[in-house]
Amino acid sequence: MISKIRGTYDILPCEVEKWQELEDVIYQVSKLYHFKEIRTPIFEASELFHRGVGDTTDIVKKETYDFLDRGDRSLTLRPEGTASVVRSVIENKLYADANLPLKYYYYGPMFRYERPAKGRQRQFHQFGAEALGSDSPLVDAEMIAYSYTLLKALHLQNVYVKINSLGDTDSKAVYREKLVSYLDKHVENLCDDCKRRYLENPYRVLDCKIDRDTPTIKEAPKPIDDLSEKDKAHFDKVLDYLDGMNIDYIVDKNLVRGLDYYTHTVFELEADLETLGAQATLGGGGRYNHLFKTLEGPEFSAVGFAFGMERLLLALESLNRKRPQESIHAFLIMLGDSVKSEGLELIMNLRHGGLVVDYDFFDRSLKAQFKQAERQNPKFYLIFGEEEAKSRTINIKDAVSGEQESVSLDNLYSTLVSKIQNASSCSGHCSDCAEDCE
Ligand code: HAM
Repeated sequence: MISKIRGTYDILPCEVEKWQELEDVIYQVSKLYHFKEIRTPIFEASELFHRGVGDTTDIVKKETYDFLDRGDRSLTLRPEGTASVVRSVIENKLYADANLPLKYYYYGPMFRYERPAKGRQRQFHQFGAEALGSDSPLVDAEMIAYSYTLLKALHLQNVYVKINSLGDTDSKAVYREKLVSYLDKHVENLCDDCKRRYLENPYRVLDCKIDRDTPTIKEAPKPIDDLSEKDKAHFDKVLDYLDGMNIDYIVDKNLVRGLDYYTHTVFELEADLETLGAQATLGGGGRYNHLFKTLEGPEFSAVGFAFGMERLLLALESLNRKRPQESIHAFLIMLGDSVKSEGLELIMNLRHGGLVVDYDFFDRSLKAQFKQAERQNPKFYLIFGEEEAKSRTINIKDAVSGEQESVSLDNLYSTLVSKIQNASSCSGHCSDCAEDCE
């Protein structure tokens, strides 16, 4: 047997509905914030991510799926969506749009060669959004509000926003020097990973899971304390706007995020939920004012975020929602071969009218057809045999009350629709009813 690749998984039909419900909320919230969807390719030139996300980041150094295609081009399965959106905006000259900022969201599979664990896969899915073409702190606040609204719309509890500022390039350069010289003096106290990476990527030492609570890191200089006046004013405004929007946040001076392109505001959305296991971060993002330049585009400041869909689904498990058992409108029981052709015509008409109808494909007996029908939980059974075909009628049996009525074939659709509308919203068949209804 050929098995799936480690870190990948099948989303089976019984789980797909949960995904679709989550996707629906995402689309509704994105509409509220007036964002439009953009779809970019799943693989891109490797250089896009090496330059865009950063050669010294864990993602690019250790986690990308790189391969040569048959034309010897070096390609990479996208590990995230931001670099691709920026590439697309540059390539399609979308930056020339007068209606700024451009507001785009995206959704789809991403690929990172990480150690698989609960909430961490090698193929996972992100919903992300980018607002491109403005350096106003209003946009930082707007993007945090957008991501926060999503979590509220999902009714998730115990969620919070962590926020920090890295400042712009100048502030970052001043701070970086200060941090490296501090770490130089304390290198023996760092974990093995940080001992290796602190010169290359000193920021990551601050939010290293092993080191972050040690006195060395607690006492280390923090980016937010080295902001220029201008950068500090930007951050203060973001916080002010978040207060105005009644969004609770925690300023986390150690928050730096794992991608090189960030400047100014960085943020993460976390949840304290048992169902999430060790992966408490549902999503994160920040401002990136120079990624366009890095990718040979114009000066174009942007802010964005992305959520891991799998993590959102794990978080949703904490709500312990009961899911109504699926049901269909009707199941047509056909008795005898001679009525099949006419029965199929009935089914087609009902389906064209928007009703969900199923039937038996195995020439089962009457009893077995009822059994099969029960598994599909129909609201009504339709019984159609030779007698009925002759008299141009059909029997409609209510699955809950057992009441049966014979109607003319011409009236089948209208009668069934009105019965469906009149049937109580409680079919007595859902798992909610089994426990909660009187
Ligand atoms: P990121 O923090 O690398 O940011 O990923 C965003 C989210 O994707 C994470 O918070 C997590 O929920 C999910 N995620 C990441 N890796 C995995 C994995 N291996 N398995 C499951 N879920 C995962 C970015 O990707 C940036 N592009 C966000 C952004 C957009 N910044 C600005 N614009």
